[in-house]
Amino acid sequence: MFNEAIDITIKTQRTTFAKTQKLFPEYDSRKPFLKWAGGKSQLIPELVKYIPNKFNSYLEPFIGGGALFFYLNHNASVISDSNEELIITYQAVKDNVNSIIDILDGFVNEETFFYQVRSLDPHTLNLSERAARLIYLNKTCFNGLYRVNKKGIFNVPYNKRDSEQFYNKETLINASRRLQNTTIIHSDYKAVLKKHTRKGDFVFLDPPYQPMSKYSDFKRYTKEFFYEKDQKELFIVFKELVDKGCFVILTNSNHPLITDLYKNFRIEVIETRRLISCDPSTRTGKDIIVLGGI
Ligand SMILES: C[S@@+](CC[C@H](N)C(=O)[O-])C[C@H]1O[C@@H](n2cnc3c(N)ncnc32)[C@H](O)[C@@H]1O
Repeated sequence: MFNEAIDITIKTQRTTFAKTQKLFPEYDSRKPFLKWAGGKSQLIPELVKYIPNKFNSYLEPFIGGGALFFYLNHNASVISDSNEELIITYQAVKDNVNSIIDILDGFVNEETFFYQVRSLDPHTLNLSERAARLIYLNKTCFNGLYRVNKKGIFNVPYNKRDSEQFYNKETLINASRRLQNTTIIHSDYKAVLKKHTRKGDFVFLDPPYQPMSKYSDFKRYTKEFFYEKDQKELFIVFKELVDKGCFVILTNSNHPLITDLYKNFRIEVIETRRLISCDPSTRTGKDIIVLGGI
């Protein structure tokens, strides 16, 4: 269907892609295959300090790019997110990674092509095509941002990078392997945690951050926002999980609303770089790590 929808010759680009891959065999088996706003890759050295030595299932209900999930590679995991395209992509990477790779190998990192792919309605595509579209847009749009308008249509512009290699095959194949023992759910976080958590599970909560100022942070991962009332509801869920006997780690911004909510729990403050801001001067900030039952 892609090949019909997009008038492009793919043969030469396939060769270029193969050559680029040989020249730059960047390969890290624990890397996420998507770049996600608020991705936790840079915070992993801090987070690992608090991971319990032993736990039953691992649950990450705001999975985004899943930096900690891929790093941990725990054998029984439940991942979920309210972003449907994202969850379809995880499921397709789990079930059909080769067909996604075939589609991506026919794509080019080029502006006109980007806007053609972006204009496709995901609902008219099969699951592998939907996944390939999301991975492609994620890797070639501005800073890997996922932002949609009020109708839920992806609207991030193209961002030409130096490399023509816009995705890494090994990372995708490794991700597929890591997803084999994972339950993948499209849902609001509350329903998943209610149904799937038991005593002794480890839950990592990485919600959209409370913005430090009106303009500072990016929150629109889906057409819904995460408001102050959502942060308050999440706090109640956090406490319920701790009461149930789960090990819980939560990350958020160092905002008074958040530090006040969690004031009776251990809070670590960490200096971090923000990757998504347009203005380099605002690309630093402080994250907090809240520990419950740990
Ligand atoms: C900060 S990102 C998670 C980043 C992730 N930890 C990583 O390493 O890339 C927050 C995620 O929460 C999701 N989200 C927002 N509101 C949600 C909700 N009510 N239930 C479940 N997921 C939600 C967003 O779609 C987004 O993917």
